[in-house]
This record gives sequence, structure tokens and C-alpha cells, in this order.
Amino acid sequence: MPHVVTQACCGDASCVYACPVNCIHPTPDEPDFGVAEMLYIDPSTCVDCGACVSACPVGAIVPGHRLPDDQARFADINAGHYTTGVADAVRFPVDPSRQLPMAPVTKPRRLAVDEPVSIGIVGSGPSAMYAADELLRHPQVSVTLYERLRRPFGLARYGVAPDHTATRSVMWLFDDIARDPRCEIKLGLTVGRDIMLDDLRERHDAVIWAGGAPTDRALAIPGITAPGVVSATAFVGWYNDHRDHDHLDVDLATSRAVVIGNGNVALDVARILTADPDTLAATAISRHALATLRRSEIEEVVVLGRRGPAQAAFTLPELVGLVESGANVVVDPAELSRPPDTPDATTRAKLDLLAEVAARPRRGGRTLRLGFRRSPVRIDADAEGRAAGVVVERNRVTDDGTIEPTGTTDTIAARLVLTSIGYRGIPVPGLPFDEARGVIPNDAGRVVADGTPVPGMYVTGWIKRGPSGFIGTNKTDSAQTVASLLADLEAGALADRHPRRRGLLDLLS
Ligand SMILES: Cc1cc2nc3c(=O)[nH]c(=O)nc-3n(C[C@H](O)[C@H](O)[C@H](O)COP(=O)(O)OP(=O)(O)OC[C@H]3O[C@@H](n4cnc5c(N)ncnc54)[C@H](O)[C@@H]3O)c2cc1C
Ligand SMILES: NC(=O)c1ccc[n+]([C@@H]2O[C@H](COP(=O)([O-])OP(=O)(O)OC[C@H]3O[C@@H](n4cnc5c(N)ncnc54)[C@H](OP(=O)(O)O)[C@@H]3O)[C@@H](O)[C@H]2O)c1
Ligand code: SF4
Ligand code: SF4
Repeated sequence: MPHVVTQACCGDASCVYACPVNCIHPTPDEPDFGVAEMLYIDPSTCVDCGACVSACPVGAIVPGHRLPDDQARFADINAGHYTTGVADAVRFPVDPSRQLPMAPVTKPRRLAVDEPVSIGIVGSGPSAMYAADELLRHPQVSVTLYERLRRPFGLARYGVAPDHTATRSVMWLFDDIARDPRCEIKLGLTVGRDIMLDDLRERHDAVIWAGGAPTDRALAIPGITAPGVVSATAFVGWYNDHRDHDHLDVDLATSRAVVIGNGNVALDVARILTADPDTLAATAISRHALATLRRSEIEEVVVLGRRGPAQAAFTLPELVGLVESGANVVVDPAELSRPPDTPDATTRAKLDLLAEVAARPRRGGRTLRLGFRRSPVRIDADAEGRAAGVVVERNRVTDDGTIEPTGTTDTIAARLVLTSIGYRGIPVPGLPFDEARGVIPNDAGRVVADGTPVPGMYVTGWIKRGPSGFIGTNKTDSAQTVASLLADLEAGALADRHPRRRGLLDLLS
């Protein structure tokens, strides 16, 4: 039986290069790679050789005959890409504005530089680790990563949900990269506080900033600062043992929680709030979060999207994972409507699954409700000033996905409100910053100030392209940055190579 890509796929495309018959798509040089929610195996051409299984860093590929029941839907999802995907690509060409930066993964080549090259990388998240991996292909290059936390790998450790154990296993790959004798990770060092960026630029031939997008997009509505309103950034950090969020005050003595936004982070947060604590106990969840979750009085978690189900930001693999996780997912059939010309196969599959959920008989116990077409207007507080409810306005959604407020409001009573409307980069002293997008302006990874590249300074990951994409998306993104850096190195465009070493030589002479 053909092999199948399942939920944990993080889109790094390693399997594409392992497959001898080119049956895994989209490949990084195909136009829909940058917007695909996962990769898919063509069942009609897969020869069942198994090469992709060992290439996958997160164990996402399973031989068809060993597909566990909770992943069974992925056989149809893989096949569906080939029966409808091609027709869709013609009818609905990829919108270039949604596409993430891509770099064709090139074959290793000999670097036209003989002397040693030293590169500093700020951060140790996925983008930093993929950049290090790409650089270490060249024997002349050594890499030092500077990480502010005591443990490496960024959101792969402190973001990915604890119950997503397969996805978290990508850290084994990062461990392998870090084990290279030419790679060093300096932990517990904040660049800009413990060590200055200028010092790094002096110490290394070039520096790559891979600091991610550490804060959340702010929701500017009245009442948002009331106790009981918590950002998903903080909540995720809290359950993943991130030192910045250890002491977050999470009060679960409430029957309902509302999550604003319906991206994959919102689904993670809602799933953790509704999961059986005994199941979570077997994961890497923080022990203090587990103790609080054991005392939870929550009966319902409502995940609110401002647009319709066809525009929901969560991905199909994550919706499948949620529905199959045993969570008591509830969707009101009245909330479901299908646009006349449903855009693509993935959206159609999402709508079909939501319709299936909506038609299920209700069961008792803690529920996770998916609500649509409601924008938050304000947070109402109780007499003590604590959050007591979210006032939402109903929207109409036009065929092109634009929302039109209707003026009708409802109040959803809840003493815990989680805002999950996306992450945001923060400015780095000494580097330019695009306030509107929350990114460091760059041209294919070269930091650009006032239209001119800053010599020897590069950027990758969420701080380069904005807070979207999977772990594996950072692989092609970092490949692009490293390609720019190496081209500049070979062209002699890195400013002041080896200043320290040259300074010493001057002194000796
Ligand atoms: C809650 C959440 C869950 C996710 N789950 C998944 C998932 O299940 N599957 C998936 O494929 N993708 C997932 N993603 C997306 C994925 O985590 C990101 O694509 C990826 O982590 C971005 O990598 P990055 O290196 O740009 O940033 P980060 O992972 O944020 O890494 C940045 C690193 O830089 C360090 N740093 C920042 N500033 C400094 C400084 N001044 N000095 C030193 N170090 C510094 C930070 O401490 C951090 O370690 C998730 C994202 C979130 C937010
Ligand atoms: N398992 C996984 O693979 C996994 C897990 C977690 C995260 N990730 C990835 O990490 C990235 C970040 O995820 P995310 O969930 O933080 O962000 P996201 O996917 O961008 O979702 C943000 C959500 O917030 C909504 N929103 C934005 N502004 C709003 C406002 N003012 N009022 C109400 N709603 C608002 C958006 O609605 P609109 O759509 O209407 O703008 C959307 O529903 C994504 O690429 C995601 O796929 C992946
Ligand atoms: S099993 Fe072999 S042929 Fe099938 S997708 Fe994997 S690598 Fe390709
Ligand atoms: S995680 Fe990477 S190797 Fe595994 S299935 Fe997805 S794209 Fe292929």
C-alpha cells in the first residue's frame, strides 16, 4: 500500500529529495509549496520503497497498511491532492501575496574561499538551526549560536504543543546539527544585553539575526487589560515551561473560556484546555500547568473566528488531529455555509469535516466549540474589574473573504479570555525595523537600511518574513539567507573580514 504523509508534517521537504520516483509534492520549486498546508504522496506512483520514512525528521510518513485509525483520513487527503489539486491549480492560481519566500534547495557546492569563515547566529530556533545546517555543509565554516534561554531550539521546544510529540521530535534533528564540532551554542546569553550586536559583528565574518517574533499582536479593544485576559503567547509559554511565563496567573475557576482567533495556535490552546490531564501527564507539559489544569472547572472552550469556516486560519491537518484526538468538538450547523465556488481541495476538505462534526449527535462532557463570523468588540468586567464576558459583533463574509459588520452583538460570558491573533517581531537596537509588518527589512535575507544592504548582516525566520509558516518552512527560508551570505562572501562584499584577527596581525607586524 502506498505511503501516506500524516498530521505531524512540518513541510521541510526532506522526503522530496529522498523519494526515487518524485511522487511527493509540492516540491520546493513548485509554485504551491509556499502555501501548502503539508506535503502529499501520490498513491498512483509511490513504489513503497520507504526511503521517505527515514528522511522525515518528525515521523510523519507512514506505510498505508500501518496507518493508525486516528490518522486514517490522511490516505484520502494525500490522494485528494492528486485527483483535485491539479485542476484547482488551473482554476485557482496561487495568490503571490500569500506565498512565503522560497529558495530552491541546491546541491552542495565548493565554496570559493579557502580561509576559515566564522558566522554568528542570534537565536537557536528552527530558522537558526536550519541556517547553521546549511552553513556547516562547507568545511571552512564554523558557526556560533547565541541563545537567550537556558535551553535551545526556540518555539520547537517552547511553542509546539506538548501533546504534539511527533512534531517536537524535530529537536532530535536539531541536536544532530548542534553536535557538529564546528557548531557551538552559547546558552543563556541575550544579545543586546549580555553581549552587544556590534561585538558579534566584530567577532564574526557575518551575523544572522534569527530571533523570531517573541511577542503577540495586540488586540486593541476596550477592557483588554482586565485580569483574566491572557495572550496565547503567554499561555503557550506557561504550559511549555518558558521562563518568561512561569508565573502567569491562569485562573481556571470558570465554566467557559473564549479564544479569540482561530489559527493553529488557537486550536493548540483550546485542545490543551479541554484535554484529559492524565493524557497530558505523559507529555513534556510543565508540571505547574498540569497541576492547574487538574483543578480546572472549564466546561466549554469557544474558539472564535472573525470570518467564515471557509476562511478559517487553522490548517486541515490540525483540524483532523483535533477531531481525531477525542476532543468533544462542537460546531453549530447554522454556522456552516459553503461559498458558491469553494476555492480549493484543502478548503473543501475542511468544510466537509466541519459538516461531519456538526452532524454528530451531541455528547456530554467538556466541549470545544468552533464559532465563526464574530469579531470581538470589548471585554466586559465584573464588579472587581475582572473579565466576565466578551462582546462580539456578528459579521457577514463576502465571497472574497472580506468581513462586513452587521451591527448585531452578543455577549459570551467567560472569565478567561485568550487572545490568539498572531505573533509579532520586536525591533533590534542597531538594525532597521518595519513597524507595519514587525520584521527586519531585507532583500533575500540581506538586512537593508535606507535601501542599502548592511554589510555582513543577515536575517532569517519569523523576524525576516513575519510570523507564519511551519517549522520546515524555515528550512527553505534559511537556505535563501545563507545563499545570499555565501554569495557576498565569495564576492568579497562582507565588510572588514576578520577584523579581530587582522588587528592582531597589524599589532604583530
Ligand atoms: C505556539 C506555536 C506552536 C507552533 N506549533 C507548530 C507545530 O506544531 N508545527 C510546526 O510545523 N510549526 C509550529 N509552529 C511554527 C514554528 O514554531 C515557527 O515556524 C518557528 O519556530 C519559527 O522559527 P524562528 O527560528 O524564526 O523563531 P523561534 O522559534 O521563535 O526562535 C527564536 C529564538 O531566538 C531567541 N532569541 C530571541 N532574541 C534573542 C536575543 N536577543 N539574544 C539571544 N537569543 C534570542 C529566542 O529565545 C528563540 O530561541 C508553532 C508556532 C507557535 C507560536
Ligand atoms: N501544528 C502546526 O502546524 C502549527 C501550530 C501552531 C502554529 N503554527 C503556525 O504558526 C503560525 C502562527 O499561528 P497563529 O495561530 O498565531 O496565527 P495565524 O494563523 O495568523 O492566525 C491568526 C488568527 O487571528 C485572527 N485575527 C487577527 N487579527 C484579529 C483581530 N483583530 N480580531 C480578531 N481576530 C483576529 C486571524 O483572523 P483572519 O484569518 O481573519 O485574519 C486568524 O484567525 C501559522 O503559520 C501557523 O500555521 C503551526
Ligand atoms: S515510499 Fe518510496 S516511492 Fe513512496 S513516497 Fe516514499 S520514497 Fe517515494
Ligand atoms: S515533515 Fe518534511 S520529510 Fe516529513 S513528510 Fe513533511 S515535508 Fe516530508
